[in-house]
Amino acid sequence: MARPLAALLAAVAVCLAAVLIASAPTGANAAVAPNAPVRADGLLDLTASDFASRSSALNQDGAYWMVNFMNVSCGWSKKFAPQYKDFAKHSKRTQKKGLRVAQIDCQAFPDPCDQYDIEGTPTVLVLKKGKVVFEYNGDATAAALKEFTGKAADKDFADWP
Ligand SMILES: *[C@@H]1O[C@H](CO)[C@@H](O)[C@H](O)[C@H]1NC(C)=O
Repeated sequence: MARPLAALLAAVAVCLAAVLIASAPTGANAAVAPNAPVRADGLLDLTASDFASRSSALNQDGAYWMVNFMNVSCGWSKKFAPQYKDFAKHSKRTQKKGLRVAQIDCQAFPDPCDQYDIEGTPTVLVLKKGKVVFEYNGDATAAALKEFTGKAADKDFADWP
């Protein structure tokens, strides 16, 4: 089970994703093509189709994908978003070494969040070829994310499964 980062911070309310059944229809917001290049800000916005398509970069390339499963309507997710964005923007060297930094909005695209057993947002998983490698459960700050991934990149991700 993938548990939200917020579970580590007792004082913060978690927006649980247990209401996925009543989710909004998907597709309308599908703005990014599956093989969209990494943007200038270093952050890839994924859609449900990125997860569903077997030919998508997410499922095809051998890179590690760090994905923030978030919810734009959830306060704690909103609070974490700028930290994650800042990390994405300042981790270009790590990204060049093979880490993709992405996010998906569980509110707009509930299916992948359901598929990956996301219990609440934000949850940050590291995926490879669409499969969960591990869940990030360090501090929810840009600095911590940057340090954690930067150290791994320095070792060419040798310590990662
Ligand atoms: C997103 O957060 C809102 C506000 O807490 C909640 O009502 C909604 O169910 C959440 N959606 C998902 C998919 O978690």
